Amino acid sequence: MLDIQKIRADFPILSQKVNGKPLVYFDNGATSQKPQIVIDADAKYYQEINANIHRGVHTLSQLATDAYELSRGKVQQHINAKFAHEVLFTSGTTHGINLVTNGFASILKPGDEILVSALEHHSNIVPWQMLCEKTGATLKVIPMNEEGELIMEAYDALLSENTKVVTVNHISNALGTINPIKYMIDKAHAVGAAVLIDGAQAVPHLKPDVQDLDCDFYAFSGHKMCGPTGTGILYGKEAWLNKLPPYQGGGEMIKEVTFEKTTYADLPHKFEAGTPNIAGGIVLGTAIDYMNEIGFEAIHAHEEELLQYATKRLLEIEGLKIYGTGKNKASVISFNIDGIHPYDIGSIIDKLGIAVRTGHHCAQPIMNFFCIPGTIRASFSFYNTKEEIDSMVEAVKKAQTMLS
Ligand code: ALA
Repeated sequence: MLDIQKIRADFPILSQKVNGKPLVYFDNGATSQKPQIVIDADAKYYQEINANIHRGVHTLSQLATDAYELSRGKVQQHINAKFAHEVLFTSGTTHGINLVTNGFASILKPGDEILVSALEHHSNIVPWQMLCEKTGATLKVIPMNEEGELIMEAYDALLSENTKVVTVNHISNALGTINPIKYMIDKAHAVGAAVLIDGAQAVPHLKPDVQDLDCDFYAFSGHKMCGPTGTGILYGKEAWLNKLPPYQGGGEMIKEVTFEKTTYADLPHKFEAGTPNIAGGIVLGTAIDYMNEIGFEAIHAHEEELLQYATKRLLEIEGLKIYGTGKNKASVISFNIDGIHPYDIGSIIDKLGIAVRTGHHCAQPIMNFFCIPGTIRASFSFYNTKEEIDSMVEAVKKAQTMLS
């Protein structure tokens, strides 16, 4: 059992009032709030060891380098990667996915197929479309059903010897569906395809084991898991990272440079050109420690309770429909109310202190599937409470009355 009040005291922002009302923060899918220990670690880095990494013999540079590499090791352990050099620091999930699609530009050719799921965020659609334009490869879509679940029979039928890549999110940002990625990875590997998992919405809720999953790439962001914005991780299997060309050229990613030829650094530096977000990378390690201390089993149990409670309470509202009703769901609820635009509900409940995301959630194909302009999305974190859900339900009812 989590001591929620003790946990909430770790997050200074949560005790704020917004528009004169106590803040109810249910936009965790967009970004999570940060505990004081993370905020302090950022300041501590700049106060005590700020220097560029991997470059200087001076003490500060070594301290900063050690802290950065220590953090890489923490991520490696957290996701159970085989080697630390399979863990690349990025600016976020989008960066990680683009790094991979850029690499595949030199591998794919016309006739090759990329399977993308119908549940993807734009950041896991558009880079693959750009790759298809460059290479002549074809994008095919793994369809979903009315519950917001991917249809595995259709997936099986789409796989063939032409399939070179399968890309799918671990958890849908718009609907909360948890996808059967282990099954999908096994099936993709059976036809020789590589698999990228967009784990952006999964890492705040669970601890992925990349070796057990056997995925080829797993991309995620730091800011959704209590870490700083502008941080992220791309895990890639060593063999794939050796095969892919560098994403960006610059300092730090080279072995030797002459005007005739440049040779590239070993992993992970080959993919880390330029001065990275050093403080961010280090502080991401602090955020991961913080979440592990709370414990992902306890996080899961609490969030599951919030999901069940919020689902039940919201369904008491007449005319309310939930999108994403699959069997395996994370603590995300997307909904609409008959005859009312989601933006109007979102704006009114904001005045009552409730922060939710409204709109298409960067997942327009999902909205098109349901023939809706968008939804109201409440996404819960381990620091949220049932009382906050009650406040949201009352606020939504009030908005409904005002708008009907
Ligand atoms: N991808 C983030 C969300 O779903 C921003 O809100």
